Amino acid sequence: GVVGAAATAGAAGAGGLVAGAVLGRESAAGAGATADGNQQLAFYGTHQPGIEAPVQAQGWLTAFDLKPGTTTTQLRALMREWTSIAAATMAGEPLPSADDAMALGRGPGALTVTVGVGASLLTKLGLGHRIPEALTPLPTFLGDDLDADASNGDLVVLVAANDGLVAVHALRAMQRSAAAVAGQRWQVNGFGEAAGVMPSPTATPRNLMGQLDGTGNPKPGTAAFDRTVYVPADGDPAWMRGGTYLVYRRIRMLLDTWDALDRGQQEAAIGRDKATGAPLSGGTEFTAPDYGKFSPEGALLIPPGSHIRQASAQLNAGATIYRRPLSYYNGRRADGAPDAGLHFLAYQRDPASGFTAIQQRLAGADTLSTYIRHEASGLFAILPGCSEGGYLGETLLE
Ligand code: HEM
Repeated sequence: GVVGAAATAGAAGAGGLVAGAVLGRESAAGAGATADGNQQLAFYGTHQPGIEAPVQAQGWLTAFDLKPGTTTTQLRALMREWTSIAAATMAGEPLPSADDAMALGRGPGALTVTVGVGASLLTKLGLGHRIPEALTPLPTFLGDDLDADASNGDLVVLVAANDGLVAVHALRAMQRSAAAVAGQRWQVNGFGEAAGVMPSPTATPRNLMGQLDGTGNPKPGTAAFDRTVYVPADGDPAWMRGGTYLVYRRIRMLLDTWDALDRGQQEAAIGRDKATGAPLSGGTEFTAPDYGKFSPEGALLIPPGSHIRQASAQLNAGATIYRRPLSYYNGRRADGAPDAGLHFLAYQRDPASGFTAIQQRLAGADTLSTYIRHEASGLFAILPGCSEGGYLGETLLE
């Protein structure tokens, strides 16, 4: 739900005309996006709005741990406060109380606030019997090199917007209101692309390897999307109906190694054309890949180890997920390699038959796995949305 466009369309796409002509841009903005990205997205609803929102330019992901002794009553009060902060900031309004005026006169900037809980939260509150099966810890995958301190957590908040100031304003308010009951466990930030810079506000964004990233996703607003992502109205447990599960992976890209590949090798690793995103079997970005098509020389056009072949639902018992990553680029590590990559965010109603099924195959067979490292991980229940007068988490905490 888009509530309204808050500002001019005057700057629409001004930065991208030449590239657009080269790459065949779409001319019209699709539903749910304005050309300058300053729209207001509806906070209240069956699902939290940050899951399906158009790609945003900036995002912060913060995990919190409860302070020892925190009670369910205290958590309920925090969730009510977080709900009112989310509702106000997403509407571009000042906070209900104690606004620091950081983003005075700015917003809403397509701001979304998304809140989830980890299994450890339920354990700490004595609600261990209500932990969904879907929050069973992820298995260890081949090649995992995970930093436990940068992984998991009791609560997670994703704040994303087309303006960094607008996003941080909301995040700081949430951190301040949490201070007495929950402290930061880890925080990362990353970026997508800005609506006015992409060839159209609904175009597929690129990642730091330069690939169009998101082509194969289920499309928001379709029945296939809802089936993939949300716990249905008759699903279990009841407190998760309308919610979803988030798998977070901090995936470093070995960018210097990747850059040494030529364009053809890079395209073979993914199975898609870099400029257009079309599958190497031919067509345009959204043409279905033909995994059985051979070159005149007898080679599979979409190579056996290519990422899209290995990740495809066909090879993974129908496994589908909705990917919504943020890029990060944080200078160089002590070993000289770029600290860069993806904050990979995948939503699905069942992580075991979604992310886990796919990653078990990718970790062993994907050419791309040579060029990436999984360094942190998280599994969270993303709470159902709420209606006016209600609050996030009410289905769990009532
Ligand atoms: C597709 C990049 C990690 C699952 C793609 C595509 C690219 C890409 C460029 C093709 C376009 C698209 O459909 O979006 C990357 C990069 C990764 C990464 C750079 C790490 C840095 C992962 C992981 C998973 C995954 C960890 C899941 C475990 C998928 C799926 C598809 C896909 C399901 C769609 C396949 C299809 O079209 O059937 N990825 N990916 N990716 N990726 Fe990844």
